[in-house]
Amino acid sequence: MQMNDYIELVNSKLDEFIQIEYPQTIFKSMKYTVMLPGKRLRPIMCLEACRMLGGELEDAIPTACAIEMLHAQTLIHDDLPCMDNDDFRRGKPTNHKVFGEAMAVLAGDALLTYAPQIITKYSENLSPSTLIRVLNEYFQFAGAYGVIAGQVVDIESENNNYEGLNKEEILNYLHLHKTSDLFQLAMRTGAIIAGADEEKISAVTEFAKTFGLAFQIADDILDEISTFEQMGKTLGKDKAVGKLTFVSLYGLDESKCKLSCLFDKCYDIMNQYNIVSDVFNDMIDKISKRVGI
Ligand code: IPE
Ligand code: IPE
Ligand code: MG
Ligand code: MG
Ligand code: MG
Repeated sequence: MQMNDYIELVNSKLDEFIQIEYPQTIFKSMKYTVMLPGKRLRPIMCLEACRMLGGELEDAIPTACAIEMLHAQTLIHDDLPCMDNDDFRRGKPTNHKVFGEAMAVLAGDALLTYAPQIITKYSENLSPSTLIRVLNEYFQFAGAYGVIAGQVVDIESENNNYEGLNKEEILNYLHLHKTSDLFQLAMRTGAIIAGADEEKISAVTEFAKTFGLAFQIADDILDEISTFEQMGKTLGKDKAVGKLTFVSLYGLDESKCKLSCLFDKCYDIMNQYNIVSDVFNDMIDKISKRVGI
């Protein structure tokens, strides 16, 4: 399967998994952000990790879609006026601009709990122990040990609140959590569903961690050099609000250098562990071209 085949599959399953029920506003609000045209990188990574390690694609579909729902939740809340205060996402008005702030908060909360329900409801092919492992991964990476930890430190960094730690450590911490964690969740669950051994699970974890860090550095760079048409969101805001980013700490050129090294590391990990995937090569290629490295 190529990227576009995966995107089509994920879009049709997401559409099927979220039905508009009573009270309609909440389901409409949840579905609005989920169905906007995102790149679907996280579900693709989950499915591809599963395929690569010998699993059945079908077994990973509910988990892959749940992770995209969780990602949509992080985006809805990230865009709120009390967080990054953004008006556009995926080329369209943000959730709170369409449904109002109260509904956007509720839609995020609802997605956070709806997503693992999708896993339990549709993963009848998984053994109980695999299912529990997958759910544990979800809760670990979605909560206060995961994305939320990254978002907390991201918000605190706007006020130069570093609690005595050095900026470099803080920056790595917040990128690893706010962004790498969902990539780790995606690849680890894909591997677990495929029945991979611990060595393979740690290989994909290492890859996802590195890829996620690179991905957020690319996002920080693109926030300065890209356009609304390319990214579908208002750019230049990190600098305006004084966010701690790779670009603010190291400048554009050094950030590009670091990004390039991290992508080299991704290739090294793939070679070392015999991970063969055109899809991952394609993802790295696309980001490299966009950033111009
Ligand atoms: C946006 O992620 C949030 C970041 C971690 C930078 P994506 O760039 O993957 O967003 P979509 O899903 O394609 O909209
Ligand atoms: C994204 O960080 C992290 C999460 C949404 C969890 P950003 O705040 O940089 O993402 P964008 O730029 O709004 O997509
Ligand atoms: Mg943010
Ligand atoms: Mg943001
Ligand atoms: Mg950003």
